[in-house]
Amino acid sequence: MVRVAVIGSGYVGLVAAACFAELGHEVICVDNDARKIAALERGETPIHEKFLPELLARHRGHRLRFSGSVRDAARDSQAIFIAVGTPPSENGEADLSYVEAVSREIAQAIASSPNEYRIVVEKSTVPVDTSRGVHRVMELNGAPTHLFDVASNPEFLREGSAVTDFLYPDRIVIGADSERCIALLKKIYEPLTDGSYYQNKNIIPEPDDVQTPARLIATSAKSAELIKHASNAFLAMKISFINAVAAVCESVGADVGQVREGMGADVRIGKRFLNPGIGYGGSCFPKDVKAFRAVAEHCGYDFGMLDEVMKINDEQRQRFIKKVRNALWILKGKRLAVLGLAFKGGTDDIRDSQAIAIVQLLLKEGCSIAAFDPAAMPKTQASGVFPEEAVFFAENAYAAARDADAVLVLTDWEEFTALDFERLRAALKHPIMIDGRNLFQPQTMSELGFTYISIGRPEVSAKKTVAVPAPGAD
Ligand code: UGA
Repeated sequence: MVRVAVIGSGYVGLVAAACFAELGHEVICVDNDARKIAALERGETPIHEKFLPELLARHRGHRLRFSGSVRDAARDSQAIFIAVGTPPSENGEADLSYVEAVSREIAQAIASSPNEYRIVVEKSTVPVDTSRGVHRVMELNGAPTHLFDVASNPEFLREGSAVTDFLYPDRIVIGADSERCIALLKKIYEPLTDGSYYQNKNIIPEPDDVQTPARLIATSAKSAELIKHASNAFLAMKISFINAVAAVCESVGADVGQVREGMGADVRIGKRFLNPGIGYGGSCFPKDVKAFRAVAEHCGYDFGMLDEVMKINDEQRQRFIKKVRNALWILKGKRLAVLGLAFKGGTDDIRDSQAIAIVQLLLKEGCSIAAFDPAAMPKTQASGVFPEEAVFFAENAYAAARDADAVLVLTDWEEFTALDFERLRAALKHPIMIDGRNLFQPQTMSELGFTYISIGRPEVSAKKTVAVPAPGAD
């Protein structure tokens, strides 16, 4: 058992804290938002994340405690994970002021109780060489250098499957420049790397395509920091690449689904993260590609490829609007049903959501919007991203579709694949579906009576069914 503090109770911090407790550690999770801490102590789960409520309920008050004080938490812990925000600043660089502020407080805690060696671990995504900056701030604030080390342990979890990703990782990366520090990090992850966690009865269910025990990769601190940025930038590049291929498919009448299948069968390429759509969004890829671009520039390398990745991503929105315009001609005054507001399915997160950005563009064009999302509507309403009353939030997909000129699919929610399409079509004024996520098969949608427009695949019109009179009918 290791005494662990996690500073920051956002997506990464809270999931990490709950999972560390699940691995048997004593955890204190800290946030400077007193209301959030109070809500967590009351047993509420602030984010929509599968298995998180179960883990919080299992460990709250036992191995998992909450606190508003960085100092208290740091003083009582052997490993202090920093999981605070690193938002983009104006020029795209990551703003590290929260990381710095927290480091200062941790240093003061260590200076006031210099009885034990501790490690300070960056969990937030940070530019390469941040560990050196953290080390320096700690030193300047009185932490004796023989009593601490700074490490990087980037997190690769995806929202929507965060708990499973944490407990069944493809790899665990720990980056540090001292053996003592690496040894403590190894101990923290041991239940996953020696497989003992997977022997327990009450574990979080194992997903299909993972190998256990988990693989651990130990690197230098700088390499670990770079692994995170380079991984996210590479995945974003994969998405922009397939979106560009989809544009070519549209011009020549090819099917990007078939192209993806053929490309992805090459194990060197792989099918995952090759789904075309309306562009990547969320709190990570847009910010991280920009930040990595800025990091490279700082280091004197002109990583122009990343500019292209961002440009293609931005263009996806306009390309989608063009599809809507092609289908409906004049946008002004059209009523549109929007399915999905979250930046991807399985989450209520709308940060940098392409769906939200597209709705904003359509509102500017003078469309009226009725939207439905299985989880993200409360956050959307509270966020003020749309002018007041501009969007009607419907109670389900059919209510959103009522009298609409077309239905737009903007988030890849699994729920949408189980819709009653007869009912959806009957609710619409015109049976037109413009699918920004390629959730359905064109042929099937045509047979269901929709004109169906998707990304990188030929448009299909509604199959005309000739009504055959029932026997005996007149
Ligand atoms: C991403 C990474 O996948 C995680 O490994 C990483 O830990 C996380 O960022 C982070 O840095 O914290 P996340 O932002 O939760 O995770 O979401 P993804 O599943 O990666 O999706 C990002 C965006 O790309 C979404 O808008 C999604 O719809 C889009 N996407 C994804 C596509 O358009 N096509 C794809 O094939 C895959």
